[in-house]
Amino acid sequence: ATAPASWDRPLEGKVAVVTGAARGIGATIAEVFARDGAKVIVADIPAAGEALSETANKVGGTALALDVTAPDAADKLAEFATERFGGIDIIVHNAGITRDKLLANMDEGRWNSVINVNLAAPHRITEGLVAKGVLKEGGRVIDVSSIAGIAGNRGQTNYGASKAGVIGMVNAEAPKLAEKGITINAVAPGFIETAMTAAIPLGTREAGRLMSSLLQGGQTVDVAETIAFFASPASNAVNGNVVRVCGQSLI
Ligand code: NAI
Repeated sequence: ATAPASWDRPLEGKVAVVTGAARGIGATIAEVFARDGAKVIVADIPAAGEALSETANKVGGTALALDVTAPDAADKLAEFATERFGGIDIIVHNAGITRDKLLANMDEGRWNSVINVNLAAPHRITEGLVAKGVLKEGGRVIDVSSIAGIAGNRGQTNYGASKAGVIGMVNAEAPKLAEKGITINAVAPGFIETAMTAAIPLGTREAGRLMSSLLQGGQTVDVAETIAFFASPASNAVNGNVVRVCGQSLI
């Protein structure tokens, strides 16, 4: 086969959902998807409020207040996307949280909330959308893992476990989803400059930056462009992969 002349607007006509899209990496993914021609549903918790509408306006997308951990999250998303767009082609499970504590203080609440948002919710929503046939043939599922799920990180037993779990989930779901013509891949970002990492103590933050051979924090767009590849026809034959986005991390 010959190469296509160009990938200009490779997501034209596609419906894409990005969770946790009010700010940070999610907001940039929405921007990149819109640039590439997709109709974007930006989802975030109700408390995200104005920030979510601002992202939606910026990308000409549609906002959906959705807590990914709600038991009916898949139903709600399925109904919303079907009514407005007739289904979903691409979903990025980007919503994520940290609740860091050293092991001795890692209480059950911190453990459960991180596992629920970062690992259980993406699984439940993917399963729900596939079972309902809302995620179309040719569909793409893209999960957001982390270097913390590969290399581990002090104080992040819960977060690292959730992000390592995402990798296990991608590996397990890839052959199953392939039967339906759907691919699933993940990115594992290193230290990216967002509100999430701005909350960590300065010393740890500096150490995070120095772990990249670029010797600085990554940008949200670095992650978004890698995800755009997984969403585009350029990656038709790519399934069950995890790509590190961490400036040739020294880890
Ligand atoms: P952020 O904290 O700036 O944004 C996360 C968004 O997710 C927020 O808008 C938040 O409201 C939303 N969210 C949280 N819980 C939610 C829920 N239950 N339902 C729906 N939305 C929810 O974080 P950032 O840095 O943009 O991270 C995005 C993703 O990238 C996360 O999964 C994070 O774990 C991952 N990541 C980030 C890295 C970094 O260095 N910033 C490194 C590796 C992975």
